[in-house]
Amino acid sequence: MVKFTSRIHNFNAGPAMLPTEVMEKAQREFLNYQGTGMSVMEMSHRAKPFQDILDRSIHHLRSLLSIPERYGVVYYPGGATFQFSAIPLNYLKEGESADFALTGVWAVKAKEEAKKFYPNVKTIFDGKDSKYTEIPELTDDLVSDDAKYVYITSNNTIYGTRYKTLPKLKKAPLIADMTSELLSRKLNIEDFSVIFAGAQKNIGPSGLTLVIYDKEKLPKQNHPIPNLMNFELMEKNGSLYNTPPTYSIYMAGLVFEWLVEKGGVEVMEKENEAKAKLLYDTIDSSSLYNAPVPVNNRSVMNAVFRLKDDSLDAKFLEGAEAAGLAGLKGYRDVGGFRASIYNAMPKSGIETLVSYMKEFERSKG
Ligand SMILES: Cc1ncc(COP(=O)(O)O)c(C=O)c1O
Repeated sequence: MVKFTSRIHNFNAGPAMLPTEVMEKAQREFLNYQGTGMSVMEMSHRAKPFQDILDRSIHHLRSLLSIPERYGVVYYPGGATFQFSAIPLNYLKEGESADFALTGVWAVKAKEEAKKFYPNVKTIFDGKDSKYTEIPELTDDLVSDDAKYVYITSNNTIYGTRYKTLPKLKKAPLIADMTSELLSRKLNIEDFSVIFAGAQKNIGPSGLTLVIYDKEKLPKQNHPIPNLMNFELMEKNGSLYNTPPTYSIYMAGLVFEWLVEKGGVEVMEKENEAKAKLLYDTIDSSSLYNAPVPVNNRSVMNAVFRLKDDSLDAKFLEGAEAAGLAGLKGYRDVGGFRASIYNAMPKSGIETLVSYMKEFERSKG
């Protein structure tokens, strides 16, 4: 393994790179947070300095995404996968059903988990035959009459796809796993009943999950819901029902402040689109690389590409790693390469990647 003495270009899909400014601020505050004489990691979650950190982070998030008052914003432990169980338990009663759009492994896992408790859940789109390169156009006529909600994964981290236009439904509430794109693009919160996101891409350390939900659309349930999965209980306790992942919440708060300073989600969206364009244009104009995803479905956060001659894969990766370009290996079931280019990835990182790709093509292609 090559040893680096400074930070490198980190294209990992998640846990992913965080903004260097955020890491530096955390480092400065690590041993003694704002004169408290202790690290945030060592602080009581019931103490005022931590309550301020929590409140400030939610305040910034609400302003970044223009989250209406009637939506609860809650930090959960357990990663995004935790919500695969929590959502059906909060939103379905015995015998009820929901619709799932299967655009990849994460949606399949969410459906399988819901099915354990609610065997009637349905698939309204299955992208398996297209190797998950297709994204449905979700309209009300696809929604089942008895669906209590429609579930989507808005950006498919593994396959590098996304809903270019996010669905707007009237027939049933929409619930979205936005783990790999929340805060990277503008969106209208009111089009969704629940949005959740594991933190490890655009928010902070893994293991923390954000849930944003419309309190008025949360059904009353008579069946027992485990306390840590109970939306109402968690919200009423302000994310402090038990000891939350305090340091991760602090890091998320620093990321939100960084985003506010950068100019917010609108500015990020433009930057992200320019970054993705640079990379996809390089792939599309080359005779060595290709992108398996149709142009309209391409993710702005995770760009999947291949070498037309896959016997060069190992060489490409070896050279990339030596050049300080980490985390480019594709997901194990997809193969090829994937560059995850979240908010924290500066344009200069993509420029370095693109010049490596061009040089590799010139010398080996
Ligand atoms: C879109 C999406 N949903 C869910 C997950 C699962 O997240 P976690 O490992 O935090 O449970 C991931 C993981 O990368 C993901 O990309």
